[in-house]
Amino acid sequence: MSQRNFTRTQVGIVGCGPAGLFLAHLLHRAGIESVIVESRTREAVEGTIRAGLLEHWVTELMRDMGLGDRMAREGHAHDGITLQYGATRFHLPLDELTGGKRVTLYPQHEVLIDLIAARLADGGRIHFGVSDTAFHDIETDRPRIAFRHPDGTPDELSCDYVVGADGFHGPGRRAIPAAERREYDRTYPFGWLGILAHAPLSWHELIYARHEEGFALLTTRTPEIQRLYIQCDPRDDIANWPDERIWAALHRRLETAGDWKLADGRIFQKGIIPLRSFVCETMRRGRLFLAGDAAHIVPPTGAKGLNLAVADVLVLSRALEAALRRGDESGLDAYPATALRRIWKAERFSWMMTTMLHVDAAETPFEHRIRMADLDFLAGSRNAQAAVAENYVGLPF
Ligand code: PHB
Repeated sequence: MSQRNFTRTQVGIVGCGPAGLFLAHLLHRAGIESVIVESRTREAVEGTIRAGLLEHWVTELMRDMGLGDRMAREGHAHDGITLQYGATRFHLPLDELTGGKRVTLYPQHEVLIDLIAARLADGGRIHFGVSDTAFHDIETDRPRIAFRHPDGTPDELSCDYVVGADGFHGPGRRAIPAAERREYDRTYPFGWLGILAHAPLSWHELIYARHEEGFALLTTRTPEIQRLYIQCDPRDDIANWPDERIWAALHRRLETAGDWKLADGRIFQKGIIPLRSFVCETMRRGRLFLAGDAAHIVPPTGAKGLNLAVADVLVLSRALEAALRRGDESGLDAYPATALRRIWKAERFSWMMTTMLHVDAAETPFEHRIRMADLDFLAGSRNAQAAVAENYVGLPF
């Protein structure tokens, strides 16, 4: 029989995504020990291609933490975005409208590759490929995380505090009884069909387009690889979308302004994701804290998911530091309320961008005209653009 292991650590973290990794790094900087357990393998974590539009302060944080070198070389700073509806295309100058702030396109898996390498180089412990992960005794002062190593050996982390940074489907949120969770949810009647294609850059910045057929987004990964999305039925089967049908829809939806043309190419990955908004306001129970997607989901239209996860753990790391160093738990008590103020603003922004840019078949003619007036106002008002820009580059702390 395999022997059960026990490990003592100050903070046990489930989940090696942006929330878990940034937290481990922030705690390390504060002299606090942590251990991460993750159900996926390191290859799966590092190889899952995800979007990543980093808010201004996240890039500064990465630089301050000594984690910004590759991002500075390989990431792409964007000082504006393009919005489009009907035949109108306009530029929203993020930097001018926010006193010099920008966003950086540096995909999430690249961030994770950098953070994992740095964490391991610092002697940090990350257990990949674990199973049967469960939180125990979260209402005592010695909470535990039980799990099995890939070879089946059971292990247990005995902690001062535990964190569920384990995504929407992880065990973290479910360790809080459903009857005690305050949750808010909105599903949208649309999904995004996303593709990766070998194609040249068509435009120097992202294009968010509202077309009468539905939303389209042009974004990029490298000068040779482009990422594009179109609004679709979330229940649709990707088998109904041969490559020619996808390109035809992209050309129609994006080529509405002047004689600009979208460059196409060979699609090498495609899939459909549903859009949802979700908040679990119960972000703490006893000594368990939730961060990132475990507590909230935003539709991707505002590119807020990763940024919000990092914001959560910035607040949480400071609170854990005060608790572990000085026995001051006031920051931990305030954590949900502090984090939720930012979370709800990001939820509002993501919902607003989604609603403004998508076509909803159930929308009344009145609502439709309001939507178009929203875009018309945004195109012509510097104040309205400043409000979008302020949210897009990331609200101040
Ligand atoms: C992406 O690059 O995949 C991306 C960018 C911006 C968004 C959503 C996705 O709002």
